[in-house]
Amino acid sequence: MAGELGLVTDFFPTARLSDMLCPAFDSCRRSRLEAYSVSTLSPALHPGIAIRAVDLAKSYSSATAPVHALRGVTLEVKRGGRVALLGKSGSGKSTLLNLLGGLDHATSGSLHVGGHDLDGHSRRELSRFRSASVGMIFQAFHLIPSRTALENAELPMIFAGRPPGERRALAKQALESVGLGARLHHRPTEMSGGENQRVAVARALVNRPEVVLADEPTGNLDSDTASEVMGLILDHVDRYNATLVLVTHDEELARTCTDRVIRLKDGRLVS
Ligand SMILES: Nc1ncnc2c1ncn2[C@@H]1O[C@H](COP(=O)(O)OP(=O)(O)OP(=O)(O)O)[C@@H](O)[C@H]1O
Ligand SMILES: [Mg+2]
Repeated sequence: MAGELGLVTDFFPTARLSDMLCPAFDSCRRSRLEAYSVSTLSPALHPGIAIRAVDLAKSYSSATAPVHALRGVTLEVKRGGRVALLGKSGSGKSTLLNLLGGLDHATSGSLHVGGHDLDGHSRRELSRFRSASVGMIFQAFHLIPSRTALENAELPMIFAGRPPGERRALAKQALESVGLGARLHHRPTEMSGGENQRVAVARALVNRPEVVLADEPTGNLDSDTASEVMGLILDHVDRYNATLVLVTHDEELARTCTDRVIRLKDGRLVS
């Protein structure tokens, strides 16, 4: 138990990181989703719509002037849709993805994701929503450096209350499915960038999320490894009819891996 608490402390070193990572396990999902719809997050307008953002804006305060990162984004993505989000650095891509994942609150506008209305909920409620519905993959992996691949993949299940033996077996299975059966006990510094990203993918998808948000998931990888990692993400999306929003700078990746390309410029959608 003490070790487990250590894991939790490592896993949640800051509020921000804790918010990023909190998938839970599939079999717990239905009951938790029912709990959310009753007590916290209200149902979406239509079950076939995975994402609906209306006039979404996000401003950050700063020491000088506020930064208007999103200036009224309206967007709808059907369940099972695959959308690429392109735009120059600073155009608001990560900001939008973070709002979709409930990592942050919009300044104004409304947002439904994965069947839930995300407006006006506490961080805790958003974290629960994310646990049940969203898998997030980041360019910088966000693995815990002091923990092995197995422990990293296992961490989300601690929060789902999965018994230790079971979650260990499931984490192992998830890592084997991304080709890392021989790296279970390696720490992030003992693995390549591609291997680290595969651990992050295993962790994000172990819960079978209905919405996958990937922020430049292949940005740090060579082209072969990038294809492999994208293949894992797309397999999941196909198998579970999940919805994908993929942030990328790579036009070809956007064309080949998604069915719709949208572009952000200065916080606004331009196509
Ligand atoms: N926490 C924050 N506080 C203040 N400003 C922020 C914060 N996060 C992002 N910004 C600003 O908001 C704007 C959009 O940032 P964002 O990270 O969404 O860009 P991006 O499109 O993801 O860029 P990149 O391609 O470089 O990752 C930028 O001008 C950025 O400086
Ligand atoms: Mg970004």
